[in-house]
Amino acid sequence: MATVRRICVSILAVSLLLMSSCNAQTCPTTCECTNTFVFCTAKQLTSVPTGIPTDTVRLFLENNQIQTLTPTPFLNLGLLEWLTLTNNPIDTILPNTFLKLENLTNLYLTENNLTAIAANTFRGMVKLTELHLYRNQIGSLVQGSFSGIASVQELYLYENAITTLGDFLFDDLRSLTKLYLQDNLINGITSNAFVGLTSLTELRLENNLLRTVPTALRELSALQGLYLSGNKLVRITENAFPGLTSLTILTLFDNELEIIDTNGFSGLSGLQDLELQNNQIVALGDFSLNGMTSLQTLNLAANNITSVGQYAFSSLAAVQEIDLSNNTITEMPYTVLKQLLQLNTLRLRFNSLKTLPIEGFEVLGAIPSLEMTNNPWECDCSMQAASLWLRLNTASTIKNQIVCAAPENLQGRVLDDVVLERLLCTEPTVVFSGDDVLPGPGRALSLQCTAEGFPVPELTVTTARGENVTVETSTQDVTLRRDGAVVVTNVSAEDAGTYVCMASNAAGFAFAAWHVAANVSNDTTSTTCASGASGDAVVLTVTEFTLIIIASFLSALLISALVFCICRVNKPRSSSGSRHRSTVNNSRGRKPSPGSAELPQNTYMRSYPLTTTLPAPAIHTDHVGAPPVTSKADAANSSDTGSLDHPSMRGSQIINYHTHSNPAYHSDYFDSLDSRRAFKPIAVNGLQYGNQPLVGSTMRLSDAGDPQNSYLATHV
Ligand SMILES: *[C@@H]1O[C@H](CO)[C@@H](O)[C@H](O)[C@H]1NC(C)=O
Ligand SMILES: *[C@@H]1O[C@H](CO)[C@@H](O)[C@H](O)[C@H]1NC(C)=O
Ligand SMILES: *[C@@H]1O[C@H](CO)[C@@H](O)[C@H](O)[C@H]1NC(C)=O
Ligand SMILES: *[C@@H]1O[C@H](CO)[C@@H](O)[C@H](O)[C@H]1NC(C)=O
Ligand SMILES: *[C@@H]1O[C@H](CO)[C@@H](O)[C@H](O)[C@H]1NC(C)=O
Ligand SMILES: *[C@@H]1O[C@H](CO)[C@@H](O)[C@H](O)[C@H]1NC(C)=O
Ligand SMILES: *[C@@H]1O[C@H](CO)[C@@H](O)[C@H](O)[C@H]1NC(C)=O
Ligand SMILES: *[C@@H]1O[C@H](CO)[C@@H](O)[C@H](O)[C@H]1NC(C)=O
Repeated sequence: MATVRRICVSILAVSLLLMSSCNAQTCPTTCECTNTFVFCTAKQLTSVPTGIPTDTVRLFLENNQIQTLTPTPFLNLGLLEWLTLTNNPIDTILPNTFLKLENLTNLYLTENNLTAIAANTFRGMVKLTELHLYRNQIGSLVQGSFSGIASVQELYLYENAITTLGDFLFDDLRSLTKLYLQDNLINGITSNAFVGLTSLTELRLENNLLRTVPTALRELSALQGLYLSGNKLVRITENAFPGLTSLTILTLFDNELEIIDTNGFSGLSGLQDLELQNNQIVALGDFSLNGMTSLQTLNLAANNITSVGQYAFSSLAAVQEIDLSNNTITEMPYTVLKQLLQLNTLRLRFNSLKTLPIEGFEVLGAIPSLEMTNNPWECDCSMQAASLWLRLNTASTIKNQIVCAAPENLQGRVLDDVVLERLLCTEPTVVFSGDDVLPGPGRALSLQCTAEGFPVPELTVTTARGENVTVETSTQDVTLRRDGAVVVTNVSAEDAGTYVCMASNAAGFAFAAWHVAANVSNDTTSTTCASGASGDAVVLTVTEFTLIIIASFLSALLISALVFCICRVNKPRSSSGSRHRSTVNNSRGRKPSPGSAELPQNTYMRSYPLTTTLPAPAIHTDHVGAPPVTSKADAANSSDTGSLDHPSMRGSQIINYHTHSNPAYHSDYFDSLDSRRAFKPIAVNGLQYGNQPLVGSTMRLSDAGDPQNSYLATHV
C-alpha cells in the first residue's frame, strides 16, 4: 500500500512537474515559439491570442485580421521589447492596452486602419524608442496622443491623413530625434505645436499642403534636417527660420515660391544644402540669400528667375555649387562671384543669356565646372572679346559651350570658331507710323514702331504727354509690345502731339517721331467750327495776326472772327495723312532741320555722339590666361587682356597688350580689336609715354576713332 502511495505521489509529483514545466513552455496553438520570440505571422488571427509566454521578448503578429487591441493579452508581457502588428485592420485600441509593456522599445502599428489616436493611448511604455504609425488613416491627433512615452526617439506618422498639428501635441517627447510627417494633408501647424521637441534633429514635412513656413519651427534648436518640399509655400518672408542655427539641410523644392524676401534665410548660419529647385521664384534680390555663411550647395534650378541682384550671392562665402539652370536669366552679376573662392560648379544651362561680358571672364576662367549651353547667345560685336578670350583660354570649361543663336548666318556656330570680323553689330533703323488724328475721347490710339538692327534694338516710346514707356514698363494706359505696337487707351485731348520712338542696341541708336493731330471735331475750344468744311491749313502772317489781335480789342464784334480763324488754324493739317508719312532719314548725325515750318517730321539720328565732356573711362585688366611673368621673354609672349569701358561705346572694347608691374618686363604692344577704336597711350602718370609700366597708372589715351579726343583712363 505504501508502495502504491509512493508511486501515486511520485506520479503526481512528476505530473505536477511536467505541468509546471509545460506551463512555462506553453505556446498559443497557432504560433511558433522559439526561445523568447513568438511568431504569429499571417495566421488569420482576428485577435491577439492568449497564453503568450510571459518571458516573450519579441512578438510578431503582422499580416492578420486583428481589428481591436485590448489590454488582456498584454497584461503579463512585462518583458516584451518588440511588438509587430503591421498590416492588420486595427481601427480601435482600447484604453490601457499597452499599460504593462514597460520594457517595450519598438512598436509597429504600420499599415492598419487607425483614424485617430486618443489621449494616453501609449501610456505605460516608458522605454519605447520607436513608434511606427505610418500608412494608417490617422486624421486626428489630440494633445496627449503621445503622452507617457517620453523616451521615444523616432516617431513615424507618414502617409496618414493628418490635416493640422495643434499646440503642445508632442510636448512630452523630449527624447524625440526624428519626426516623420511627410505625405499627409497638413495645411496648418499652430505656433506651439513643436514645444518640447528640444532633441529633434530631423523633421520631415514634405508633400503636405503648407502655404506658409510654420512659426512653430522656432522651438527646434537641435534641428539639422528640415524637409518642406512638395508643399504650397508661396513666399519666404524675412527671417522665416529663426532659431534654427543647427540646420544643415533645408529642402524647399516643388513648392510655389515666387518671392524670397530680403534676409529670408538669415540666421541659418550652419546651413550647408539649400534646395529651392522647381519653384516660381522670379528674382533673386540683393540680400535674399543673406546670412548663410556655411552654405555649400545652392540649387535654384527650374525657377522663373530673370534677374539676379549684384550682391545676391555675396554672403555665401563657403558655397561650392550653384545651380541656376532652367531659369530665364538675362544677365549674371559675374564680378561678385569672384569673391566666392570655394565655388567649383556653376550651372547656367537653359537660361536667356545673350552675351558674355568682359567682366565675367576672370571668374568664368576660375570656376572648374561651368555649364552654359542652351542659352540664346547673340554673336554680335559685343562678343568679340569673349571669342578672343575663349581662344586664349584653351583649357576653359566653357569651350564649345557658347553656340550662337543669332544672327541667322551664325546660328549653330560655336563662338570659339567664329572669326572676329564676323561678330558684327548693325545700327538700328526705325520707322514710326499709325493714327495721324486722335480718335474720339475714351477710344484707343494705335501706332507702330518698327526697328531693325542687330542685336535686336530695345525700344522706348516717349508719348505726347512726355512719359517714357518701354516694353517692361508698359502700363494699362500706354502699352508697348515687343513687336513695336503702341496702344494708348482711353485717349483725351492731351494725348495729341508728338510721339517719339527710340531704338537702341550695342551699335547705336535711332529715333523717329510721329505727330498725332488733335481731333478738332471734338475739341471743346473749337466746337463752334467743328462742322467746318475741311480745307488746307491757314497760315497767318505775323502782321495779319497782330492786326487781328488789335482788332479784337477794338471791337467785340471781331471776336467771333478771331475764333473762326483760330478754329481753322487748329484743323488737322492734313486729313489725308500723306504729309505725315514716316520716313527714316538715314543720313548720319542729321538733326531735325530747325527752321522747318512743318510739324516735326520723322527724324533719325545715329549714335557715337562723342564729346570731350564724357566721364573718364577705366581700364580693367584681369591678367586672364597670362602666366606669371618672370623674364622679359615671358613678357613678350604673354598676352594680357584688358578692357576699356566708355559710355560712348555702349559696352566695352577689348584692348590687348603686354604689360607688367616690373619695369624690366614690359612691352609696349597696345592694341584694340576694333580698328576704329585703336587706343594708344600718349602719356602715363603725366609723363610722355615711353614704355613705362601701365599697371596702376593713369594714362591719357588717343582714340583712332575720334582723333580730336583723348581719354584719361585709370588702369585698375
Ligand atoms: C523589465 O525588464 C527588467 C529587466 O529585464 C525587469 O527587471 C523588469 O521586471 C521588467 N518589467 C516587467 C514589468 O516585467
Ligand atoms: C482598412 O482600410 C483599407 C484601406 O483603406 C480598407 O480597404 C479596408 O476595408 C479597411 N478594413 C476595415 C476592416 O475597415
Ligand atoms: C513661371 O513660369 C511658368 C512657365 O513659364 C509660368 O506658367 C508661370 O506663370 C510663371 N510664374 C510666375 C510667378 O511668373
Ligand atoms: C531643363 O530644361 C530642359 C529642356 O527643357 C529639360 O530637358 C531638363 O530636364 C530641365 N532640367 C531641369 C532641372 O528642370
Ligand atoms: C474724332 O472724334 C470723333 C468722335 O468724337 C470720331 O467719330 C472721329 O472718328 C474722330 N476722328 C478720327 C480721325 O479719329
Ligand atoms: C524720357 O527720356 C528722355 C530721354 O532719355 C529724358 O530726357 C526725359 O527726362 C524722360 N522723361 C521722363 C518723364 O522720364
Ligand atoms: C478715361 O479717362 C477719364 C479722364 O481722362 C477718366 O475719368 C476715366 O475714368 C477713364 N476711363 C477708364 C476706363 O480708364
Ligand atoms: C466729344 O464728343 C462727344 C460726342 O460728340 C461728346 O459727348 C463729348 O463730351 C466730347 N468730349 C469732349 C472732351 O469734348
